Amino acid sequence: MSIRIAISVLALALLPLAGPTSAQAEDSADKAKAVKDEGGKYLDADGNPTFKIENGTVDWYTFSGYRRYHSDCHVCHGQDGMGSTYAPALANSLKTIDYPTFLSIVAQGRKNTANGKENVMPAFGDNKNVYCYLDDLYVYLRARADGAAPRGRPPKHEDKPQAAKDAEKSCMGG
Ligand code: HEC
Repeated sequence: MSIRIAISVLALALLPLAGPTSAQAEDSADKAKAVKDEGGKYLDADGNPTFKIENGTVDWYTFSGYRRYHSDCHVCHGQDGMGSTYAPALANSLKTIDYPTFLSIVAQGRKNTANGKENVMPAFGDNKNVYCYLDDLYVYLRARADGAAPRGRPPKHEDKPQAAKDAEKSCMGG
């Protein structure tokens, strides 16, 4: 009995030695792993959109997200999601911000007025060029946060899936 307690206490004490950071990194890479292919859109085990990058070829959504990001977000959030003095590095933020949180921040915007600052994240909930491509943006930034997508324009990408064409058409409203 007392030996068992001693052993579990010992095990608990040893846990941090395994390195929480490497365990976390493994965890996030694991979580982002594509386990399902829904017609060219990849999903992780929780059913959230994710990237698939093999031998430098990125999935369509990562590529599309790269383009959308650099048309609507990079002015504040910096090239390749690296951040600026005005807005945080999303290549970092997406390590902890999950899919639903991402969607709601982008749709509703946010304002930081702490320390006499006035940094504003605009609401994009009525901007079709953004909300029709929320998954693309999320997938691209997730790939950046995971270290799977290097900086710069992805040199090779999968073809645009029919599902993406259909969704775009119905969302943009022709
Ligand atoms: C006009 C500048 C501006 C633009 C354009 C902009 N953002 Fe932001 N964004 C900000 C600021 C400033 C913050 C930090 C707000 C705060 O601290 O509450 C922010 C915060 C965020 C956050 C939360 C980050 C965190 O670490 O908490 C996300 C996610 C985000 N933006 C996504 C986007 C996306 C995606 C786009 C493009 C569609 C975009 N932003 C375009 C200024 C901008």
